[in-house]
Amino acid sequence: MAKKQDRFAIGIDIGGTGIKGGLVDLRKGALVGERKKVKTPKGAPIPAVKNAVLEVYNEILSQKEAKGLDVPVGICMPSVVRHGVSYSAANIDDEWIGYPAREAFADAIGKQVSLVNDADAAGYGEVRFGEAADNIGSVIVLTLGTGIGSALIHDGRLFPNSELGHMELDGHEDYERFASSKVRENEGLSFEEWGKRLTPYFQKLEQLLEPDEFIISGGISKQADDFLHLIEVGVPVKVAKLRNNAGIIGAALLGAENWD
Ligand code: BGC
Repeated sequence: MAKKQDRFAIGIDIGGTGIKGGLVDLRKGALVGERKKVKTPKGAPIPAVKNAVLEVYNEILSQKEAKGLDVPVGICMPSVVRHGVSYSAANIDDEWIGYPAREAFADAIGKQVSLVNDADAAGYGEVRFGEAADNIGSVIVLTLGTGIGSALIHDGRLFPNSELGHMELDGHEDYERFASSKVRENEGLSFEEWGKRLTPYFQKLEQLLEPDEFIISGGISKQADDFLHLIEVGVPVKVAKLRNNAGIIGAALLGAENWD
C-alpha cells in the first residue's frame, strides 16, 4: 500500500496581493486542514517574498493534519517560469526577471520544490479536479484578475507559459490592459461593456487554437452568472470549480509530479 504521505503535497500560490497555501490531498484534489495566507509584501521584492513563503510553509506544517509528513512542495507565481527560472514579473518586483527562483525557494524552506506559472497551476488543478476533469480534449483556462493568465491543456497535460493575456488585438498591444477584471473595476465598466471587450478576445483565441472549451478562473468566476452569457463564442465557456484554491491544488499536483 502507498505510504500515507504519498497522498499529500503542499501547494503555495504567490499572488500580487496574497501568498496562500495549504496541504493538498492529491487523490481528492482538495485542501486538508486550513488554507494559510499572508499579505504579499509591498512591491514583492525577492527577500521579503522568500520569507513570506517560508512563513506560509511553516504554518501549513504546524497543523495537526501535517504532523509527521514530509511531502513534495509546489509553488506558483505570476511569472513565466522555465526550468525553475522566473523570466517575467507581473505585479511583482522586476528583480525576479531572470532569477533562479526555484533554487531560492528551495533554500528558504530547506527542501526541493517545483515552480510554475500561476495560471498554469490553476488551469492544471482545474483540469484534473475541477470543471474540465471529465474532458480529455483541449481546454484553454483563462484567469481573469489583475492581468489575464492562461493555461493550455490537452488530454490532461500542460503546455506551459502560454501567456495569452498579452495578445495584441484590435489595436491593443497588450490585451490584458484592456480587458482584465481589474481594468473593468478601474474603468467602472458594466458587465455588458466588459463582455464587448472579452468577446473579440475569446473569438480570436478560438480561431487560432480551436479548443474544445474555455474555462474562466480567478476571483471574478464567483460572478460568472453576470457575464458568462455576454461572451459570444462558438465553444462552451465554463466556470472554474476550484475557485480560489485552484492555484494551490495545481501547484501541489505539479510538485508531486516533480515538474520541471
Ligand atoms: C502574467 C502571467 C500571469 C497572469 C496572471 C499576466 O500578466 O504575464 O504570467 O499568469 O498575469 O497572474
